[in-house]
Amino acid sequence: MVITVNKLPAETIEQIRKENNIVDIVGEYVQLKKKGNNYIGLCPFHQEKSPSFSVAEDKQIFKCFGCGKGGSVISFLMEIEGMPFQEALAYLAKKSGIDLPNINQNPQTLVSKEEQNALLASEWLAKLYNHLLKHAKDGKDGLQYILDRGITEETIGTFQIGYASDIPNFTADFLQKKGFHEQQLLEAGLLTRAQDHSLLDRFRGRVIFPIRNHLGKTIAFGGRAIYDQDPKYLNSPESELFQKNKILYNFDLAKKHIRKEHAVVLYEGYMDVIASYQANVKHCVATLGTALTEYQAALLKRYVDEVIICYDADSAGMNATYKAGLLLNKVGCNVKVANLPEGMDPDEYIRQYGENRYQDEVIAASDTFMAFLMTFLKRDYNLSLESDRLEYIEQVLTQLAMIDKSIEREYYLQELHEEFGITLTTLQAEVDKKRQTKRHKQQSNASTQSNHQHNHFITYKNALKPAYQNAERILIAYMLQDEMIAQKVQEKLGADFNIEAHQIIVTYLYAFYEEHSQMNIATFIEKLPDQALQQLTSEIAMIQKESEVTDQELADYIYIIQHKKQDQENVQTLRNKQKLAEQQNDPIKAAQIAMQILELEKQAKR
Ligand code: CTP
Ligand code: MN
Repeated sequence: MVITVNKLPAETIEQIRKENNIVDIVGEYVQLKKKGNNYIGLCPFHQEKSPSFSVAEDKQIFKCFGCGKGGSVISFLMEIEGMPFQEALAYLAKKSGIDLPNINQNPQTLVSKEEQNALLASEWLAKLYNHLLKHAKDGKDGLQYILDRGITEETIGTFQIGYASDIPNFTADFLQKKGFHEQQLLEAGLLTRAQDHSLLDRFRGRVIFPIRNHLGKTIAFGGRAIYDQDPKYLNSPESELFQKNKILYNFDLAKKHIRKEHAVVLYEGYMDVIASYQANVKHCVATLGTALTEYQAALLKRYVDEVIICYDADSAGMNATYKAGLLLNKVGCNVKVANLPEGMDPDEYIRQYGENRYQDEVIAASDTFMAFLMTFLKRDYNLSLESDRLEYIEQVLTQLAMIDKSIEREYYLQELHEEFGITLTTLQAEVDKKRQTKRHKQQSNASTQSNHQHNHFITYKNALKPAYQNAERILIAYMLQDEMIAQKVQEKLGADFNIEAHQIIVTYLYAFYEEHSQMNIATFIEKLPDQALQQLTSEIAMIQKESEVTDQELADYIYIIQHKKQDQENVQTLRNKQKLAEQQNDPIKAAQIAMQILELEKQAKR
């Protein structure tokens, strides 16, 4: 019998939740910083430059005050991974080593049937390729190639490096025996059809690097030629699952090291990442043969502030460093450039000079992006010509103006002064001028942005809410915190709140206290029937409140809430009277009543 996960006993769900602290799970996606009782960071659900995303560890919930998203650790996974409830639970259970009873292995994921098949086929293939490389006669050349490049057996395992057989139909037979259909495999880009109609492995005769997504699932392959095949590297075709401009190679393994080191090393190639990882520089990722995209830059920024670019130290590599650096600067990263000797690539360096020198003399000796720029920009100019010199200085000053630390600016100004003999005062004045223009631009941007934030403010924070609404929210916040308070409110007010959403929340709340001896906000939130209610409750739960509330204060809130009800009733009676007066052709009386209504409404707003 197959038991579906949503039938899991409540205790198991509780246990899964207990084993998975929301701060850790969210921390895998967002760089969180402790602030007061909570953690804050940049919201992963909308673009922002200053953090409005907040995680409350004591309550095990999150809330973004920018876009409104909020909920428990499970809602977070559902939102960020597009997982349905039961898949999120299964994922967390696995993470914490909890065995689930025979769960339904086919939950309704957002991943289509074809994609699930492609994932499964890729998983099998990765195993086959890895096995061939390690054990098969046919894979010997591949293994030799990998060992010659200084890769250890352990690393082969970590990265599941493999070899694709050259024998026609070999891979196809293997996969078809596993139940995959020819057509699926052709569409997934794993096989191609030869002229004689035999099925060929797309990667035949190549060393294979499985490409994993951030969850560690193999979604594509990169194959490196070991004979004279063209091209040198061949990748799986792009698909919904595999989008080169979004994926960073090795992100899944690097994540925890990135958090530990507070930095990430960015490479250009698979081999660089693998060599780096093996040399114990494990906080490393690479783009997949394309230039760094803004998507990838923003992704990195969400995890870490410092990015060390470590591209090949040749002309192409420097151009790419320049572009990636500007992009990373733009999204707010602190950029450094690794100190690789001219003409080398990281993998070569490691093989030639070893792990220690690599760590100390290349990675730890990284320079600031500004220092890199000063050298880089020089290549475009003939500095013996005065006009070129001036243009170069102009360019450097433009970049310098973007640096916010005055000490750092000063440092490079001094360097320019020494190199070109221009007085510090003049250089300083130029930079100040540029910074002023920049500030103007920022201010006009900021004012459009604050308009924008103002909208969010109204939608989500709304300090301008009428008194009764605030009273209801504060009351619910206390009720969530203290069962005794909930009981008192239940006696005095029942579910007679004015705002419908609040009515629903307290109804669920009363039921929750009947079933549970202890409040658990994350559990409670999940019981709510829709996302809007979950988000609202997360927001209310995060309201800052005094730890002690007096009975008098509670009574005041209840009074305001009840009074609003009466006012509403009064307004309704007056409206009826007004209608009557109009029907009786008594415009003066109707106008008087209208004034009364206005007055009442004004009072209510206050
Ligand atoms: N690449 C690619 N297709 C190519 C060449 C390169 O997709 N035809 C990508 C690969 O991801 C590769 C990266 O670009 O890892 C860097 O390319 P390159 O510098 O040429 O390769 P190296 O990393 O030096 O590879 P190797 O050391 O194996 O020669
Ligand atoms: Mn290389």
